[in-house]
Amino acid sequence: MSYTSSTVCVPEVGAVPRHIAIIMDGNGRWATQRKLPRVAGHTKGVEAVRTTVEGCARRGVGYLTLFAFSSENWRRPRDEVSFLMRLFASTLERETTRLEKNGIRLRVVGDLSMFDASLRTLIQRAEAKTAHNLRMTLTVAANYGGRWDILQAARQLVEQTAADGRPALVDEASFAQHLAFAYAPEPDLFIRTGGERRISNFLLWHLAYTELYFTDTFWPDFDDAALEAALASYRARERRFGRATA
Ligand code: FPP
Repeated sequence: MSYTSSTVCVPEVGAVPRHIAIIMDGNGRWATQRKLPRVAGHTKGVEAVRTTVEGCARRGVGYLTLFAFSSENWRRPRDEVSFLMRLFASTLERETTRLEKNGIRLRVVGDLSMFDASLRTLIQRAEAKTAHNLRMTLTVAANYGGRWDILQAARQLVEQTAADGRPALVDEASFAQHLAFAYAPEPDLFIRTGGERRISNFLLWHLAYTELYFTDTFWPDFDDAALEAALASYRARERRFGRATA
């Protein structure tokens, strides 16, 4: 599947979303409610990641994207940031074999230049090891920001213009080819857990016609029943993409 723009042509959509994008929010509050340190919520959150990845693959979702670390998360206390980096590294080390067994391809998208060389190596290895898997693509957005993505695509077009000596073609299709998610359809369903109703600089370009679903459930409590509730809400929507009602 390659990128097609929902504003250029109306996509064919089925009962199962082709692409689900999730902001996994509420880890800190889950832990605080239990008088645990905030980072305990992130550790518990990895279990919900596993359940959701397997639940989506089982239901035939083609692409699942998880917002693991935003370009603004560096503003958190240094200890929490380094805990999240270590958790990401240890999860990659532990879970790659499981992804491989389940036929899931891993991609990590974002400005990875800010990460340690050792973490970048782990990412490259996990991506290479799972690159042939076709059942589902799991994308982890790490040091990702929607504005970063749009700007890096614009920079590529400027560089292309300079190299070619004539203005690069800038239309939706050519622009989108330079976005970090060029390999995936636009998300059909966006889920944010943890009660906030914000996009928080996630997929700004790609959410143009995405169905939005917000739940108060904290991410560590997001289990298969919670995923099913989100999918049931999605199935009940009439997706018009600007057209008149049926
Ligand atoms: C938001 O909760 C969560 C994060 C910033 C990190 C998410 C990371 C994980 C679930 C684990 C690692 C993931 C992978 C894919 C290996 P919050 O801390 O903002 O919660 P709060 O709003 O209650 O404070």
